[in-house]
Amino acid sequence: MEVKSEKKVGENPEKTEEKNNMTGQNTLIKFDHISRIYQMGAETIRALDDISLTIHVNDYISIMGPSGSGKSTLMNIIGCLDTPTSGVYQFEDEIVCDMNSEKIIKMNDNQLASIRNKKIGFVFQTFNLLPRATAFQNVELPLIYAGIPRHERREKVLKALKDVSLADRSTHTPSELSGGQRQRVAIARALVNSPSIILADEPTGNLDSETSREIMVFLDELHRLNNTVIIVTHEPDIAAHAHRMIHILDGKIDRDEINHQKIKNPVNV
Ligand SMILES: Nc1ncnc2c1ncn2[C@@H]1O[C@H](COP(=O)(O)OP(=O)(O)OP(=O)(O)O)[C@@H](O)[C@H]1O
Ligand SMILES: [Mg+2]
Repeated sequence: MEVKSEKKVGENPEKTEEKNNMTGQNTLIKFDHISRIYQMGAETIRALDDISLTIHVNDYISIMGPSGSGKSTLMNIIGCLDTPTSGVYQFEDEIVCDMNSEKIIKMNDNQLASIRNKKIGFVFQTFNLLPRATAFQNVELPLIYAGIPRHERREKVLKALKDVSLADRSTHTPSELSGGQRQRVAIARALVNSPSIILADEPTGNLDSETSREIMVFLDELHRLNNTVIIVTHEPDIAAHAHRMIHILDGKIDRDEINHQKIKNPVNV
């Protein structure tokens, strides 16, 4: 019997995005009135200000906005690296935190680490690779955190490095790699656990335009393979790879629009 409402993270066929948006199926992430406030002495900084947002499986989203508008804060909350001050955050079917209820509900550190290690792949502007570890060891790290046995780790790491065309650089440390190769190691590390979602905060920020194109080919491919991809970028041509473009301004969603250049059959709602 076909169970239509069943969520199949990472398995839904292409072109379901439009359907999802209409039916609400396959919701991956839900923000319900999320705020992140910093109190700095007398000053209150609303890094995120009452954001409600739904992200579906296999969405390809770019997040743009001026410096200080809240993009990294948004990514950090999605990635369970930070907790909102108010609002409800739901990942897949689980409540990550409900800061509104009388008694605040929050996942404990182990639960959060489990989501980070198993469900989310992070790619940062500055690569965040361990400088003294080889490409192999850097990519292996999330698998160690996730408790995967050694023999399985080796196979997965070699496959991830092959996927980013770096099979022949596995023994190189970051300083023995080019900028683009370093970022590809970071992408391999993000992918090695087959996460539900790739979060890339300015993944091309430190790269020249040719190398940026190379990285975007990988991110496009990841989306084509049914992953959910979210990129923060300042560059409009990078943002244009995404199918949905969200603009943040002063901690609020200013615009959330479909990239009609990419979506051939836009949602008819
Ligand atoms: N730990 C912190 N303590 C206090 N304020 C913070 C902290 N982290 C961020 N902020 C403030 O929150 C706001 C949003 O910061 P955020 O890093 O999300 O911006 P951003 O959009 O990623 O900017 P950029 O494009 O420069 O990376 C900024 O005004 C910033 O100064
Ligand atoms: Mg930032």
